[in-house]
Amino acid sequence: MSDRMQAGHQTRVGKGSFLSVETVGYPVKAAFVLLAVLCLSWTPAGSAAAQQAAVPNTCVSCHAGLDDEDMSLPVAEWRRSVHNPAGIFCQDCHGGNPATMVEDEAHDVERDFVGLPDPYVLHELCGECHQVQMENYVPSPHGLEGDFWPNCADCHENHEVVFPQASLISIPDNCEDCHEQETMDDFIALTDRGLEPVNEFRLAAAEIGAAGVPVDMILAQAALARDAYIQRASHVFVLEEMVAVVDSLEQIYPRIQKEVDVARTEVDTRRRFGWMFIGLFLVLAAVLWLYRRSLPDA
Ligand code: HEC
Ligand code: HEC
Ligand code: HEC
Ligand code: HEC
Ligand code: HEC
Repeated sequence: MSDRMQAGHQTRVGKGSFLSVETVGYPVKAAFVLLAVLCLSWTPAGSAAAQQAAVPNTCVSCHAGLDDEDMSLPVAEWRRSVHNPAGIFCQDCHGGNPATMVEDEAHDVERDFVGLPDPYVLHELCGECHQVQMENYVPSPHGLEGDFWPNCADCHENHEVVFPQASLISIPDNCEDCHEQETMDDFIALTDRGLEPVNEFRLAAAEIGAAGVPVDMILAQAALARDAYIQRASHVFVLEEMVAVVDSLEQIYPRIQKEVDVARTEVDTRRRFGWMFIGLFLVLAAVLWLYRRSLPDA
């Protein structure tokens, strides 16, 4: 997997730098860039990178141009997903050879091409990279009683995988086949109660950090709380268990909040000192000015 991810990264990096050359336009600048590229390609590391950059991901380039919408849409959707910037490419889920424009070679089963991943073992595929989620999901009601329905992609999409939020995931023809609206509302309220404070701590930390006060402790504790939620509440799908986890997190949130408050006070103090300093400076300047005026003319 890491090899494939590596290849994907290199390809994207290559494409980006090619674009920047293309958009420069001025011959002089282009010559400079060319010179730089030539110099780079002399070093062994440079030539390896250049070779990688010269190989586009052929799953993407061929599928993007296919007339059948079912075959081309995955590319557009994947481009909008979190997997694209993370360097997760077609072959990470479908296998195959992403470096040939010959269809049969690209779809080579010897290169682990799977075509459509089996929905009953999709969790294992996603779980290669999202292990905690898989481990919580498999023994959950959706893994066992639900017969792997809904599966990872029913809730997160195959290609347009985005930052997940409970309120966006409870789509009617999916959850409401099996659940009362009340269960869905409870579920959304509970994830909000568990995760919203973490988001707020992070926002506060960004603001406080920008004012120059250290926020490492706040961020570390927010990350611990988020991890604890993911480990013990996320994808468990038993409200009772989730409530217990969120309740225990709510025991520690006030402590993190206290650190946020202390840091905010620190920011205020620094600001006040700042103003005092400026005030003092102004007074001093005024005194000096008055003093100079009071001197007899030379
Ligand atoms: C040269 C063009 C080309 C390349 C390169 C290519 N594909 Fe395809 N792919 C196709 C075409 C055409 C179809 C539809 C074939 C059909 O309907 O039999 C297809 C079908 C598929 C399907 C659907 C299979 C199914 O059973 O419905 C998947 C998934 C897929 N390709 C993934 C990939 C991946 C992953 C790669 C890169 C490793 C890749 N393709 C490279 C042309 C290409
Ligand atoms: C995160 C995993 C993942 C990634 C990355 C991914 N796919 Fe898929 N893809 C899936 C799953 C899951 C399905 C659905 C299988 C099913 O319908 O049972 C699917 C279905 C498809 C299909 C069949 C669509 C249809 O309607 O029949 C095509 C074609 C396809 N993918 C191509 C691609 C291409 C091209 C890329 C890269 C741009 C890509 N996929 C990236 C997981 C992925
Ligand atoms: C080859 C590794 C890999 C595979 C396979 C994979 N993912 Fe991902 N996924 C990542 C990476 C890397 C990220 C971005 C970093 C992160 O947020 O964890 C990501 C992000 C995500 C996110 C967003 C997480 C967040 O906090 O924003 C979701 C949801 C997700 N993947 C679901 C899936 C699903 C569903 C599948 C299977 C259909 C899948 N992934 C398959 C590697 C993978
Ligand atoms: C019934 C719907 C559902 C299913 C099935 C599901 N997820 Fe999620 N997933 C969510 C929701 C809702 C969130 C965000 C809130 C939370 O974490 O509880 C989420 C969050 C995530 C995240 C972000 C980190 C996290 O845990 O909060 C990843 C990654 C992820 N899911 C991957 C997966 C994978 C992999 C599978 C299959 C093993 C899967 N999901 C199955 C609903 C689902
Ligand atoms: C095929 C049926 C099915 C679908 C579709 C389904 N679930 Fe479930 N879900 C179950 C079963 C069975 C249980 C365990 C029994 C129960 O609590 O209803 C469960 C339990 C839950 C629970 C815990 C309820 C509790 O009282 O402890 C939550 C939360 C949940 N599901 C969320 C979702 C979400 C969100 C979706 C849609 C993305 C969804 N489910 C789709 C079958 C399903």
